[in-house]
Amino acid sequence: MNKTWWKESVVYQIYPSSFKDSDGDGRGDLRGIISKLDYLAELGVNVIWLCPVYLSPGADNGYDISDYYAIDPQYGTMEDFDELLLEARKRGLKIMMDLVLNHTSDRHAWFKESRSSRDNPKRDYYIWRKGKEGLFPNNWESYFSGSVWEHDTETDEYYMHLYSKHQPDLNWENEEMVEELFRMVHWWLGKGVDGFRFDAIAHIVKAQGLPDADNPQHLPVVQAYQLFSNLEKVHTLLHKLNDRVLFNYDIMTVGETSGLGPEQALDYVGDERHELNMVFQFEHMNLDAASPGTGKWVSKPWTLLELKNVMSRWQTVLHDKGWNANYLGNHDQPRPVSRFGNDGPFRVESAKMLATFLLTLEGTPYIFQGEEIGMTNVAFDLIDDYRDVETINYYKQAKLLGKPQDEVMKAIWKKSRDNARTPMQWDDTANAGFTTGEPWIKVNPNYPGINAAAATADPQSIYHYYRSLIALRKKHPVIVYGEYKLLLPLDTEIYAYTRALNGEKLLVILNFFDGTPEFTWPEEPGRGKDAELLISNYDPVPGEDTGVIKLRPYEARVYLLG
Ligand code: GLC
Repeated sequence: MNKTWWKESVVYQIYPSSFKDSDGDGRGDLRGIISKLDYLAELGVNVIWLCPVYLSPGADNGYDISDYYAIDPQYGTMEDFDELLLEARKRGLKIMMDLVLNHTSDRHAWFKESRSSRDNPKRDYYIWRKGKEGLFPNNWESYFSGSVWEHDTETDEYYMHLYSKHQPDLNWENEEMVEELFRMVHWWLGKGVDGFRFDAIAHIVKAQGLPDADNPQHLPVVQAYQLFSNLEKVHTLLHKLNDRVLFNYDIMTVGETSGLGPEQALDYVGDERHELNMVFQFEHMNLDAASPGTGKWVSKPWTLLELKNVMSRWQTVLHDKGWNANYLGNHDQPRPVSRFGNDGPFRVESAKMLATFLLTLEGTPYIFQGEEIGMTNVAFDLIDDYRDVETINYYKQAKLLGKPQDEVMKAIWKKSRDNARTPMQWDDTANAGFTTGEPWIKVNPNYPGINAAAATADPQSIYHYYRSLIALRKKHPVIVYGEYKLLLPLDTEIYAYTRALNGEKLLVILNFFDGTPEFTWPEEPGRGKDAELLISNYDPVPGEDTGVIKLRPYEARVYLLG
């Protein structure tokens, strides 16, 4: 297997609005990030994934870009950005940009021109269609509720938006538009950025003719993901992007690709494909959705067997052929400790257990800001305290359909993207030390107990546990490159696996719940005297016979076997 720096990296994701505010306007900014680079270097991560900081009206917090070549004033200036690159570099940190190529803001100059008349030269940069007898051009449902089509009175046609109506989809059939995007990617690489996370990249191509999706119940709009996800031509375009632009640089790339399994993922990340280094898959994120048809808002409990099944498939199918991007949370997902762990009495233990999981899988681990201190979900009583466009659209739609208030709010508490977007909790002063002003979104009220100052001061904290895990990854190539093998596939409480490389073996034992199941040391890989406990979230039991280990709630252990 090829060894590369991005396989050996640990990525830390920053959601700029909520990370650190330096000027008291209540929003995080680039100078705020610069002021926290030492904190990140100390943690040991070596790549920062910076969510969008381009000029944007902020309908979707920066994922609606109105100028790809400018920094939004709320985050600072291009000089601040250059300084961030420089200061990061001084500390051995690389910067990966988040690039939104599926759509722009409706305030982008291209869209303003495009909507101005049917024969404007930029009309075709976006996807415009006539309505069908007073109806939408087709029945596709937007990711953010309602139709993907918005009527524009100016020219009496509809434009497509897979996300909010302020995010019109770009038309990748238009070669001139594609060339403009390529030029822009080139420009950022010229500035010296170290890679890209390509937002919603699976959706840049839509099915020919934009056909209606099957709709046996004759609903006004239906989920139609298969008609705009991972279509063959996406690969042609990514290949071209790679060939023309990316290939010339030593960078890392990761694409956001919902709706695929590992076999299909190989089409993006297979070594011989020359498209992307990694993709973010969603199968484990969908395990607590009641059914694909109901979307994310209707939940069911996830099960460990399903989680093992999904993760093991990705681990084995991609081994030696591609590379995984592993994550348990990000700016679109609930907090992992609340979702897969226990944010009550076992918050610390379960956050450490999940960290052990994330950092001992094959693939590049992505840590979302605050995960390293075990930040939790939030439950605001009022919808007015939520800021996320997806959440607000869902609320309006659900109320329109007559769903009871408490049911709607419960769904929001569980799944709202704002769970991840409350400000980073730096210390126990007002607003968690995030801002001296009024924060754009309320701080999670649990900040006096959960914050970075407390975590860095306590050697037993989740933060220091992450540090140790990251340091172990750097020390032991088996943690990065070792081949994964699942043990105990049918155990409903314990997730255990080995990783093997050049005669070295790692054994990872994770108790995923608050019970005390017994783990019987397997014959293969053998116990031996030289099983060295590399890390655990509990103190060792004096005189313990490791033949049968009685695990404590959320206990995690990693052994190195000679
Ligand atoms: C991706 C982003 C999400 C954004 C959407 C539209 O899913 O992660 O935050 O809302 O794309 O750009």
